[in-house]
Amino acid sequence: MPKLNENYLNLKESYLFAEIAHRVDAFTKANPDKKVIRLGIGDVTLPLGEKVITALHEGVDCMASSETFKGYGPEKGYEMVRNSVVEYYERNGVSIDADEVFISDGAKSDTGNITELFDKDNVILVPDPVYPVYVDTNIMDGKNVTYINANAENNFLPMPDPNQHVDVIYMCSPNNPTGAAYNHEQLKVWVDYALANDAVILYDSAYECFITDPTLPRSIFAIEGAKECAIEFCSLSKTAGFTGTRCGYTVVPHDLKFTASTGAEMSLNAMWTRRQTTKFNGVSYIVQAGAAAVFTEEGMEECKENIRYYQENAKIIADCLAKKGIRYFGGVNSPYIWFECPNNMESWTFFDYLLNNAYVVGTPGAGFGNNGKNYFRLTGFGNRENTIEAMKRFDELF
Ligand code: MLT
Repeated sequence: MPKLNENYLNLKESYLFAEIAHRVDAFTKANPDKKVIRLGIGDVTLPLGEKVITALHEGVDCMASSETFKGYGPEKGYEMVRNSVVEYYERNGVSIDADEVFISDGAKSDTGNITELFDKDNVILVPDPVYPVYVDTNIMDGKNVTYINANAENNFLPMPDPNQHVDVIYMCSPNNPTGAAYNHEQLKVWVDYALANDAVILYDSAYECFITDPTLPRSIFAIEGAKECAIEFCSLSKTAGFTGTRCGYTVVPHDLKFTASTGAEMSLNAMWTRRQTTKFNGVSYIVQAGAAAVFTEEGMEECKENIRYYQENAKIIADCLAKKGIRYFGGVNSPYIWFECPNNMESWTFFDYLLNNAYVVGTPGAGFGNNGKNYFRLTGFGNRENTIEAMKRFDELF
């Protein structure tokens, strides 16, 4: 009999969004006449831009002739995409090297798989509430995590405790689920803390494209010293509507080196290259052709137009909550609106209440951690008509 990875026994039975999908499925089966509006999982609803679609078609055509056919791609991804990522960073005032960029199938896989580079004995810091992938993947690995409280008192932007030592720090800004975004000064404190503690920051910037405040950093590498202590994960899921197409990128700086117990120097870029070349054969050429088109001027303009649409949805949701006198966070610089459940309801109770009475699906804050138990998350990624309709029903209910 195989000995199984019993760390899986320590996980909740279902992944958060799978649990929500099961509950919604049960509701729709029992109530086929009700029009359910889904503002739960952060999944986009607008089609890909024309420029990307054309590039995807061209990618397919390449596969049809022996002159242009592509087999296995380069280990870190095609240069056309990695160079485009470098230029994208440059436009945001950050300089990185194409050799530090790894094209991935999205930030979820890479933020999950990165745990393999770290030993069990680390102190791993995650905020509470948090994107459940960071916690679940560490549990699967048999690792313990330490929580740092994000709450209304600190505007859901916790800061490091100079008296506590940690080794691995997970951060997400703009934050999923709370929508809160760190400014330069706050990120500098985290970078200085990581450098002083010889710690590494795993920085998820999947929602950077939603930043509208020009003073907010869109990358941890905008902060001096970050290249010696941080890895950044980004995704085209939200930037370009690639939730179903799948493509992202991870930046692992060459300067990110630590000393092994043998005294040998270990480079995280070299380790990640070794990991990816062993376990991952890259993103399909067709998808990378589409990804390269995202970064062209026209491609970016099309993406920005879609982002503006989702931002407007977020505003519609936020305005309704404000009108109702419900305290909320996010909604600006973020597609997510994180709010206190009306009447201090527990978040899963509120989930059921909203589903049963307004046929609206959101995400219960408890799914992101203890500090979310009286909070709820709605997303701006729905279509306009549904978002307006959902908030009309919400307005009538409370
Ligand atoms: C979310 O709803 O939190 C996100 O869509 C999850 C993800 O990007 O994997």
